[in-house]
Amino acid sequence: MGSDTINITLKVWRQKNAADKGRFETIAVNDVDSHMSFLEMLDTANEKLILAGKDPIAFDNDCREGICGTCGCVVDGIPHGPNKAMTLCQLHMRKFADGDVIAVEPWRARAFKVLKDLMVDRGPLDKIIQAGGYVSVNTGSAPDANAIPIPMEVAEKAMDAAACIGCGACVATCPNASAMLFVSAKVSQLALLPQGKPEAAQRALSMVATMDALGFGNCTNHKACEAVCPKEVSIVNIARLNREFIKAGVTSEAEVDLPLALVPAAEKSAKPRAASPEAPKPAKPVAQSTSGGMVLTGSIYILTFLFVLGFIWQSLASFL
Ligand code: SF4
Ligand code: FES
Repeated sequence: MGSDTINITLKVWRQKNAADKGRFETIAVNDVDSHMSFLEMLDTANEKLILAGKDPIAFDNDCREGICGTCGCVVDGIPHGPNKAMTLCQLHMRKFADGDVIAVEPWRARAFKVLKDLMVDRGPLDKIIQAGGYVSVNTGSAPDANAIPIPMEVAEKAMDAAACIGCGACVATCPNASAMLFVSAKVSQLALLPQGKPEAAQRALSMVATMDALGFGNCTNHKACEAVCPKEVSIVNIARLNREFIKAGVTSEAEVDLPLALVPAAEKSAKPRAASPEAPKPAKPVAQSTSGGMVLTGSIYILTFLFVLGFIWQSLASFL
């Protein structure tokens, strides 16, 4: 064995299909080139499995350049593995030492069904995007450059939010399996810019309602999502999502546009899967289906209290 190769042992999650309860399988992978990416190491392991007449490990991947958001699994308990701000496809085997035992699991969240081995259905994230609707575009001749001046600072914030690649790592790491970081990035990238403002209220209400209906939990400020996000999307966006949501509920007449077809599907998928004795128990959502509701109710109470206080103060002042 040369100095640039290592021998590792994979403890990898194997699950035939969504109905199978799944289990960890131990697979020795020898002579792994430390310059390989993690996915190339899985390819190598798969070649050996195929040659031995066994079923290869199923895993999601596409661009292998950290752009598309398709790859992703939990490596040693961390979504996308031990490197900060990096997708799984960009992780290299030099991060590991000879003799390491590496645990590899799929995203675990109530809303993400395991399809096979390390592959999960991230369709629910697409449904949230779908609920976000459209952005008004005025037809006609092309507008002049700089016809809509946008401060650089605002454009930068919108671009930072738009960096989200929809990988779902934020959901996988959150103890509530919340999709708030993802939703907040999608709401923020449009709400910050003038082009996104006409439908901002409708978008915030509908995306949050869809997120809740699909079984994602609520944010309770653990910040785990921000820590594992390969694109370093900040939880500042979650604060902006909450503001957009409250504003939509208080100052607009927009209504939740929740596709009716989603409701029964969401209720069905919200039922907990039969837990494997080996699988870590999915975290219980702390406050489900109330991400905006709680905030909205609280703000209505505060506004009412301030109104009554102002009324009393005014009455006292006129009396004196
Ligand atoms: S916010 Fe980050 S972790 Fe979550 S889906 Fe987007 S890129 Fe992935
Ligand atoms: S395969 Fe596209 S981001 Fe990893």
